[in-house]
Amino acid sequence: MKKIIVLILANLLMTLTACKSDGTHEASPREARSAEQIVAHNATIGENETLIVEANGTLEISEGATLTVKGILKCAEGGSIKVLGDIVIEGSMELGGTLTIEETGTISGGTLTVLNSFDDIDCMGSVTSEIIPPEPITENGVTTVGGILLVNKVYSLPEDYGGELDSGAYGAWVRMKEETGYDFTLLSGYRSYQRQQELFDYWVEQDGYEAALMESALPGRSEHQSGLAMDVGKLEYEYAHTDEGIWLAENCHKYGFIIRYPEDKTEITGYIYEPWHIRYLGESTAKLVHDSGLTLEEFLKVDKQ
Ligand code: DAL
Ligand code: ZN
Repeated sequence: MKKIIVLILANLLMTLTACKSDGTHEASPREARSAEQIVAHNATIGENETLIVEANGTLEISEGATLTVKGILKCAEGGSIKVLGDIVIEGSMELGGTLTIEETGTISGGTLTVLNSFDDIDCMGSVTSEIIPPEPITENGVTTVGGILLVNKVYSLPEDYGGELDSGAYGAWVRMKEETGYDFTLLSGYRSYQRQQELFDYWVEQDGYEAALMESALPGRSEHQSGLAMDVGKLEYEYAHTDEGIWLAENCHKYGFIIRYPEDKTEITGYIYEPWHIRYLGESTAKLVHDSGLTLEEFLKVDKQ
């Protein structure tokens, strides 16, 4: 059964490529649709061609195979793409359905546009393509981008939002402790709007208003109110140079966290380097953000501080 599908796809793509290269069908962009496809050998979607994985359709790139996308690869809502080999994008890829990138899988070059949610992606492999997220959505005073909750100096939370540490974040922190043997002492998890006001006022008293703004969020603007952030280890820069702090910076994405306010990114995040503040995104999204080398603001292409 699988072999037949492989041949169908190989023929389909060869046909598409041939149509373009022999010059006889140059004029109109071509679209190919299919319900179930496996790319077991190298294949190309030509420059003027679009391959659509339709709702309930699947596309699998086998380990060792490369799908080169010179045109467009679209995955419609309800469709799914599984990558064990390589997708090399020279044109673009649009994701409305789901995308699984196994450990052996890679997606590189061009742009990968996420139309709905980052939850549609399960990334265990490598993505180096530019990721274009959906536009921010604000509902009831809460802003998300592709399902990722955004709290910073621009996007705030309502006063009554939240109430406890997110169970996914807490569970990931427990596993991280158990599996590494490090303490990752939990210094602060969920903080209410009122608690944040007290903390901000404390820092104003200590360092003055302007300095406080760089160290502490105003109430309603702290990730701690979302229940998705934790301060661990020590609230000191030196923590970044301890074995634990070094491990955290290099590996916390494996447990779904990112260092939210990295060194030398103050102009983007609006806050000084905080090697202790981790933000939970879930493993796949944390890996994408970590591997991008970008801050969350840059990754989500939202307004900076
Ligand atoms: N220190 C971080 C920015 C906060 O107060 O949430
Ligand atoms: Zn913090």
